Amino acid sequence: MTYTLITGASGGIGLALARQLAAQKHNLVLVARNAEKLAQLSHQLQAQYGIQVGCIAADLARPDAAQHIYSETQQHQWNVNLLVNNAGVGSGGEFATLSLPAELELLQLNTASLVALTHLFLQPMRERRSGTIINIASMTAFMPVPYMATYAASKAFVRSFTEALTQECRPYGIDVLLFAPGLTRTNFNEAAGINNEKADGLNSDYTTAPAQTPEEVAKELVNALRAKKPFHVAGRRNRLGARLLACLPNAMIARYVARSYQKQLAQH
Ligand SMILES: NC(=O)c1ccc[n+]([C@@H]2O[C@H](COP(=O)([O-])OP(=O)(O)OC[C@H]3O[C@@H](n4cnc5c(N)ncnc54)[C@H](OP(=O)(O)O)[C@@H]3O)[C@@H](O)[C@H]2O)c1
Repeated sequence: MTYTLITGASGGIGLALARQLAAQKHNLVLVARNAEKLAQLSHQLQAQYGIQVGCIAADLARPDAAQHIYSETQQHQWNVNLLVNNAGVGSGGEFATLSLPAELELLQLNTASLVALTHLFLQPMRERRSGTIINIASMTAFMPVPYMATYAASKAFVRSFTEALTQECRPYGIDVLLFAPGLTRTNFNEAAGINNEKADGLNSDYTTAPAQTPEEVAKELVNALRAKKPFHVAGRRNRLGARLLACLPNAMIARYVARSYQKQLAQH
């Protein structure tokens, strides 16, 4: 029996994806910190769709979490043939004033744990010569973002890592998809501490900036998965934006974003 493992399945895009894949009869392994939410979701999905659902409560900001998750799947014989590295956290504000431990935890969660999970789950996929890995980046993967410097750099890492891996994995029959959502109405801003005047400056206020719902984003992900795409940006507006960004020098983009943030914050 094969399973789809989704990190960050207790809320936002990961939760919407879990529901949509459950409806398509994927057996699931749900990962996040909130064990209670995972257990509730697991009961609901099993009852509604008659699928198998396992839960692993883990904090991916800890360096040992990926190995723990992999060992749990081995122990339960949950044979993971689709891995979705979705869990992630943001941060915003002037870098020098942000908490250094929190910035380093962000890097562990958004990059190092993603690399570790990918490495661990790739081994059995290579042996079986089949499997799929999906890494969730962001529009910030395409540009430097002043006042969101560490988060954007972490997503640029995810983009580069994933695009390279797509080619390395091809000879083994393993599909690797880089999926980049734009602004999506989830708990992301609140978890990042930017559900305040910073959201205005970063043009990421859900009430004023154009945003997709997590269900819309998850639907695009499911379609990209079905089409075996190596790369997909969610939302037509974001796809146009990504093309435009590719034509502009990074220094120019960074200067524009910094000025816009400084101007917006000055008005508060
Ligand atoms: N929302 C956006 O505008 C947006 C835009 C572009 C890209 N993205 C990316 O999309 C992905 C999903 O974000 P989202 O918007 O759905 O955010 P969200 O609503 O805040 O959900 C984040 C999920 O990750 C889990 N998580 C957070 N910290 C964790 C940790 N240390 N260990 C394990 N799990 C953790 C959370 O569950 P627990 O709290 O239970 O652990 C939750 O299930 C992220 O990679 C994000 O960077 C989001």
